[in-house]
Amino acid sequence: MPQTKIIDDVNHAAQALCEGLIVAFPTETVYGLGIDATSDQAARRLFEAKGRPADNPLIVHLADVQHWPLAAASMPASALVLLQRFAPGPLTVVVPRSPFISSLVTASLETVGVRIPNHPQARQMLELCGRPIAAPSANRSGRPSCTTWQAVLEDMDGRIDYILRGDVCDVGLESTVVDCINDPPVVLRAGRVTLQRIRELFPGTVFARELAEQDQLIKASPGTRHAHYQPKATIELFETLSELAKIPLVKRAESALACLSDEVAPPKTERSSCDGFVMQASFDSLETYGKQFYEFLREADRRGLKSIYLQLVPDCEQSHALRDRLLRAAGRT
Ligand code: TXA
Ligand code: MG
Repeated sequence: MPQTKIIDDVNHAAQALCEGLIVAFPTETVYGLGIDATSDQAARRLFEAKGRPADNPLIVHLADVQHWPLAAASMPASALVLLQRFAPGPLTVVVPRSPFISSLVTASLETVGVRIPNHPQARQMLELCGRPIAAPSANRSGRPSCTTWQAVLEDMDGRIDYILRGDVCDVGLESTVVDCINDPPVVLRAGRVTLQRIRELFPGTVFARELAEQDQLIKASPGTRHAHYQPKATIELFETLSELAKIPLVKRAESALACLSDEVAPPKTERSSCDGFVMQASFDSLETYGKQFYEFLREADRRGLKSIYLQLVPDCEQSHALRDRLLRAAGRT
């Protein structure tokens, strides 16, 4: 079992990756668990360490679009347009894979998800590696993602070699995943790059779940089939605070509550709806809710709480990613 070391030096992190070790690192979305994407051995160790099902492919990270041939066999026209617009950033494009990428990383698919993160430490480290780095989110499989290095240590201590220490992740939710094999492209996972912004470039783009052929979706994005983002506490979603009124005080004493803050100063009759919860957060925007979402779930687990009441945010362009994670965390997909 490896001893997990916390490091601050990107050179050290890059060197360890080149030696085939597992290094967690910060990105603008969530922390990732990096390995050399060309190494079967490193991939085998990573799937084992994370407890990840072998049929769920990993995203390959590059420092720059100039390094494209390290990961992909070709550049579909749609991928190029999306990268020109959104890279570096919270976007992953699914494209034909390069034969250099381990087939364990791609879960034997003929495609690979490629992302160029917009994070100074991640980019420096990738640049120094000079090779493609596969990295799933740094949580144990099925658990909420990690947005702090401490959360990575909590899940992965003794299972990985290094954690490159960085700040709290800025976005807090994982990248938008876009399948560029299809024409027009299809959004497999919602993220900060919204469907509307992609539609400005490719008007026919839809979410994969809107496609008639659901089987095709599972084939295109095997990861959608597995349980995700789930804390130990039970999650209860609600839309308006008045729905909380019926929850007894004993239950509130072992529960956490998160909502949007325009709901926090509700009419007097609703104010008592929030009383008595042992852990509470009111987020002033969708961005803040998204940024702190996973850490909120983790903190409730640290405190051994039984239930987490989460406000399901209204359905709008900016809320697709957060709604998706809320529904999945609650097991509602
Ligand atoms: O923001 C992110 O994307 C983070 C950071 C670390 O970059 N990574 C991340 O990785 O969220 P992970 O492994 O937790 O999620 C990757 C998702 C899964 O749903 C997986 O099925 C999908 O991307 N994916 C990866 N390669 C794919 C491929 N070739 N075709 C379809 N879906 C793919
Ligand atoms: Mg993940």
